[in-house]
Amino acid sequence: MPDDKRDDAPPAIPAARPHLGEAEIAAAVAVLRSGMVVQGPEVAAFEEEFTKVSGTAHCVAVNSGTSALQLALLAMGIGPGDEVIVPSFSFAASANAVRLVGADPVFADIEPGSFCVDPDAVAALVGPRTAAVMPVHLYGHPADMDRIGALAERHSLAVLEDACQAHGAQLAGRPVGSFGAAGAFSFYPTKNMHALEGGMVTTDDPQLARTLRLLRNQGMEQRYANEIVGANMRLTDVAAAIGRVQLGRLDEWTEARRANAARLDAGIDAVTVPPVAPEARHVYHQYTVRVPAQRDRALERLREAGVGAAVYYPTPIHRLTPYAHSGAELPETDRAAAEVLSLPVHPSLSAGDLDRIVDAVNALEPK
Ligand SMILES: Cc1ncc(COP(=O)(O)O)c(C=O)c1O
Repeated sequence: MPDDKRDDAPPAIPAARPHLGEAEIAAAVAVLRSGMVVQGPEVAAFEEEFTKVSGTAHCVAVNSGTSALQLALLAMGIGPGDEVIVPSFSFAASANAVRLVGADPVFADIEPGSFCVDPDAVAALVGPRTAAVMPVHLYGHPADMDRIGALAERHSLAVLEDACQAHGAQLAGRPVGSFGAAGAFSFYPTKNMHALEGGMVTTDDPQLARTLRLLRNQGMEQRYANEIVGANMRLTDVAAAIGRVQLGRLDEWTEARRANAARLDAGIDAVTVPPVAPEARHVYHQYTVRVPAQRDRALERLREAGVGAAVYYPTPIHRLTPYAHSGAELPETDRAAAEVLSLPVHPSLSAGDLDRIVDAVNALEPK
């Protein structure tokens, strides 16, 4: 039997470990006992409390991060005939939200360091149909919002931040979700905090916030007095109660992620560790290294060593079936898709886990 398959081998370190503890369970049970289960007081409190993360005047809770993006685009008036510039190096939801409102995603290349959209690439794609730009704060690293904001202003474009992976990330002390007309967060279980499923739109614009509240609830503020066409994208109070418990621990968990990342940065020398832009507060939803040669072999070897490494994302969006007709040429995106490898960085890693990850990575061929 090979050494790494021994019965007494330490358990594998998972890529993510969503937390669902007694406090979350108690909060959920309390809601179930109360009978107020959909978009009640827990949702209102969650929205109020999340403004501390987003730094915006308004937060509107919805049932997923994808819904948050989709409703934000609708509320901004983006639809058929419009183009939205998005990075291709992201989860498909970023582009799907654009398509779901009837607009066309136009794919921009990324900056190789931050893995976020390249403002020069965005500028080169602006045309007469461009209505908005959607930077994605990928892996928890903020996109270059100063340059994106400046070019959006120059061309009168709306900015929607996809902050689904970046709860608490900041640039020069300013939180993501507060730079654009709106931001969108996800509370899927593997995110830095979760609510089983859920999402939040953040904005400083009271009119936009009101439209979002209508859109998520069939266009109603008053029951059966429907003002506009809307959907049902409400969050349950059970989800919000779990989200509030998690929110109470977000700072502690973020500091743990950052400390884990610092330990990995200091120990890893066989591959390129993730660079952080000046003034950026990276919240390490993922800790993503580059393995320029034989990445898939490295992935296999790490898994054999019990390290739950993973690839986000092996296929850029512009090469996925629904988008393959775009014909976009994105060399940095293709290179990243071939080279990236994410290592466990979640808050429940022990010092021993971190040593095992460092040793397993350094046992790969040197860069
Ligand atoms: C970058 C990005 N955008 C959007 C989403 C969509 O969020 P959700 O899964 O909550 O719909 C996710 C997460 O899954 C994501 O990682």
